[in-house]
Amino acid sequence: MSSTAVTGIGELVTCDGTGSDKLGIQSNAALVVEDGMIAWIGSAADTPAADARIDVAGRVIIPGFVDSHSHLIFAGDRATEFAARMTGQPYDGGGIGVTVAATRAATDEELTRLLAARVRELRALGTTTIEIKSGYGLTLADELRTLQIASQFTTETTFLGGHVVPAEYVADRSGYVDLVAGPMLHAAAPYARWIDVFCEPHSPHAFDADEARHILKAGAAAGLGVRVHGNQLGPGPGVQLAVELGAASVDHCTYLDDADVDALAAAEEDTVATLLPGVEFCTRSPYPDAARLLAAGASIALATDCNPGTCYSSSMPWVISLAVRELGLTPAQALLAATAGSAKSLRRGDIGRLVPGSRADFAMLDAPSYLHLAYRPGVPIARTLDELPESHLT
Ligand code: NIG
Ligand code: FE
Repeated sequence: MSSTAVTGIGELVTCDGTGSDKLGIQSNAALVVEDGMIAWIGSAADTPAADARIDVAGRVIIPGFVDSHSHLIFAGDRATEFAARMTGQPYDGGGIGVTVAATRAATDEELTRLLAARVRELRALGTTTIEIKSGYGLTLADELRTLQIASQFTTETTFLGGHVVPAEYVADRSGYVDLVAGPMLHAAAPYARWIDVFCEPHSPHAFDADEARHILKAGAAAGLGVRVHGNQLGPGPGVQLAVELGAASVDHCTYLDDADVDALAAAEEDTVATLLPGVEFCTRSPYPDAARLLAAGASIALATDCNPGTCYSSSMPWVISLAVRELGLTPAQALLAATAGSAKSLRRGDIGRLVPGSRADFAMLDAPSYLHLAYRPGVPIARTLDELPESHLT
């Protein structure tokens, strides 16, 4: 067992829920890490002896970002689709087929190399937990291999065979739904913790509420936790379906009516509304109203949705700055949503906050306070603390 004391912390932001801003900020603090877990937090003057010491020279320590929604495993490029959107072309999910074709054509080695590069990129920006969805294979074999590869990088893998109806099944939607809810699910389940469906009647490629319910119930029966892509392109049934099924998270939530907000606020299983403002930025869509959700008592999370279509950014600090500028969150609320909130959306109590017994998953800010996350948009002030033994992506 080896221990490391982390000292010289200018501001320790624990995100432990205490204090009026719930950030649990401690000054003059130090902490001790033992075997990848936090063993002690207290006043620097009382730091116990440890095998090693890291002095962070006055920097801020925060919990590593928990990016609870990404589509990181894919091949190909859709930059021209993005450029067309910037000149007014709307997004309807049709471009997903382009990525599916490129992903099917890629070897396992190529997909592994591409995914490893993206994981390096997000770690360098302070993210310590990443959820990764399949959904660009859409055959049994391609969904299986993309989940197998993703499982080498994270335990938070999600089966998204219900992303869109692939071209070869357009004339047989119900055949595809049965494939996803049957043989494809059973092949994928050993490599997935979650199941997700793109429930979006405003896209001709995605799934309606009945199709989504069928797939998600089959996933739950196979032991997977439920997540939903919902209310992204217009008002729709995604939020209500997520609450009905006790989903851990419903993601996007761009178009919510009062009944959706009320359902999220009352959700007994605590369905988290995961907001993805990078998508609204990259698709020229209206932003969701995060302050309205918080005022109603709903739980929120922030994530990147990093994917080649609607948001090719892996930067959680950029998402935080967007959330403060465009979603009506304070810097404290945005940081909580990107750490403890997104940990909750993954039903994880061991990450997203820094308390004795939690994982020692930190990010460090080259700044005097956490406010700089929103105050310095686009500047890479956050990074992970790779010097720590046992520091790895969870
Ligand atoms: O979360 N909306 C569905 N899926 C992704 C986009 C996928 C793509 O366009 O490649 C999303 O926005
Ligand atoms: Fe997504």
